[in-house]
Amino acid sequence: MQIVRQLDPLRNVTDTLRREGPLALVPTMGALHEGHLTLVRAARKRAAHVAVSIFINPRQFGPNEDLARYPRRLEVDCALLAAEGVSLVWAPEPEAMYPQGYATTVSVTEVSEGLCGAARPGHFDGVATVVLKLFNQVRPDLALFGEKDWQQLAVIRRMARDLDLTRPHVAAIEGVETVREADGLALSSRNAYLSAEDRANAAALPREMRRALAAIRAGQPVADALGALIGALIANGFVSVDYAQLCDAETLVPLAQPGVAPARLLVAARIGATRLIDNLPL
Ligand code: PAF
Repeated sequence: MQIVRQLDPLRNVTDTLRREGPLALVPTMGALHEGHLTLVRAARKRAAHVAVSIFINPRQFGPNEDLARYPRRLEVDCALLAAEGVSLVWAPEPEAMYPQGYATTVSVTEVSEGLCGAARPGHFDGVATVVLKLFNQVRPDLALFGEKDWQQLAVIRRMARDLDLTRPHVAAIEGVETVREADGLALSSRNAYLSAEDRANAAALPREMRRALAAIRAGQPVADALGALIGALIANGFVSVDYAQLCDAETLVPLAQPGVAPARLLVAARIGATRLIDNLPL
């Protein structure tokens, strides 16, 4: 496994890997957990070589977010990736990604605007910008993203369609199902911030989401089911709910009632000082 930190050597390494067959990219911000490793394993099945990027992207953190305390564990992460048969770790320094004078932002309207986009202005511009840069740097044949960040996946898919990021230059975009703890909590690097009590209460998030989905399937009006969901989360120790919405799975337009197109329930809620997100299909 090669660990590359500068753009110039990256080009040679990726050119060599691509000669041996399809190259898959798994973009990450490090602090790797089983969810990321599941993406790596899915990537290995689909490609001759897997590249993993590790870059804590400052442009997707708001001024009051957790950039400074976001876990940094490059050595441990690299050991995990080597054991998974990854060929390349691309771990640029911030100055290699955004050199002096850097001035370009990619902004995907509409699908970026609601849900997490409303609560985190600029977040998805930061994500779209860095993901497009990662695609241009690594030039993978496919890229894999966790469905846990459903809105992120929808934004990246929209960007890929809008900017013609199609093979052979870059990347078929594949979503991989969320990996969960035994009690249903979606794996996230941010779960590490939870106290023992909050961690136990956090399982209410997927549990109450499933309950709301079952109620909607049984014919309860969406607004009533979502109201009950918010009440149940607060009763289970969450301090606030940023949003709980049933949305069209692709456009993320909120739905007052389920239609024929695939729909998804998306929730962001705070427990202690930590903001958790989750989503499930109707
Ligand atoms: O999902 C993440 O970890 C990040 O948003 C990503 C896609 C690596 C871009 O920085």
